[in-house]
Amino acid sequence: MPAEIEAALQARFTVRLNDSDALLATATIAERAKDASVLFVTATERIDGDLLRQLSPTLKTVATLSVGHDHIDLATARELGIEVLHTPDVLSDACAEIALMLLLNAARRGYEADRMVRTGQWPGWAPTQLLGKGLVGKRLGIFGMGRIGRAIATRARAFGMQIHYHNRTPLAPDLAEGAVFHSSLDRLCRHSDMLLVAAPGAPQLKGALDAAHIAALPAGAVVVNISRGDIVDDDALIDALQRGHVFAAGLDVFANEPNVDPRYRDLDNVFLSPHIGSATEETRNAMGWLLIDGVAALRRGQRPANLIS
Ligand code: DGY
Repeated sequence: MPAEIEAALQARFTVRLNDSDALLATATIAERAKDASVLFVTATERIDGDLLRQLSPTLKTVATLSVGHDHIDLATARELGIEVLHTPDVLSDACAEIALMLLLNAARRGYEADRMVRTGQWPGWAPTQLLGKGLVGKRLGIFGMGRIGRAIATRARAFGMQIHYHNRTPLAPDLAEGAVFHSSLDRLCRHSDMLLVAAPGAPQLKGALDAAHIAALPAGAVVVNISRGDIVDDDALIDALQRGHVFAAGLDVFANEPNVDPRYRDLDNVFLSPHIGSATEETRNAMGWLLIDGVAALRRGQRPANLIS
């Protein structure tokens, strides 16, 4: 946790910390969190039903430093009466910034541009050098128009993009702000010059952006994923990037993190970042405080807004 949050935790609880930030196996968490009443985790720890059952004699609350909660078995938590807190809202702006960073770097060939200058390979300005795709007038398809999706839309409008989206249900007009609703991901893909995946991670969305959806994108589309890596079928996206059907991709999230599919590293038309959507000092502190305040509210018998179950 950020230093400010660790200090605040130490002041309020008897804390056992994972000092090294190493990814802990479920069995290790079970051992180290034995007798704990609150378990602070991140999206990288898998909190399955067995772990919750092992800890349930004392465990009252799981607090995850993430808005996503696909790593937690919510049904078992509910069954055992364990409350789950997460961190919505406070990270939407930071995640939207990374979405635009990826979109711009993919569309305007940021990786190749940086490499050309950094390696001394720049032969000098040329009219056809590193031609990319502009954002103005393009249709941005947002798959998952929740809080983060809408924060992305706000920024993309400022770049002159037209916003299209797919959600299970259309948004109220004041939230949609003119964005065009599509009732299926397939329809959204057909209408997206650039596609941005911002849907929450969930088992039922595994592989949702598959070969058929990628084929439905207009030729030369750009794909960005800031959500969860397993939503995208890597074989299909890599094939489309190699053939040029997808012009470029910007990826902040991957299946099996941190073991990135090595084929992505070999593609010049992919801009990569290591799951840093919410990684600003102010955002990570705000996330930590939301969890600390949430635990305090629960202990007062209140129901904080960031309680999932
Ligand atoms: C989230 O908040 O879910 C981010 O992916 C960080 O884990």
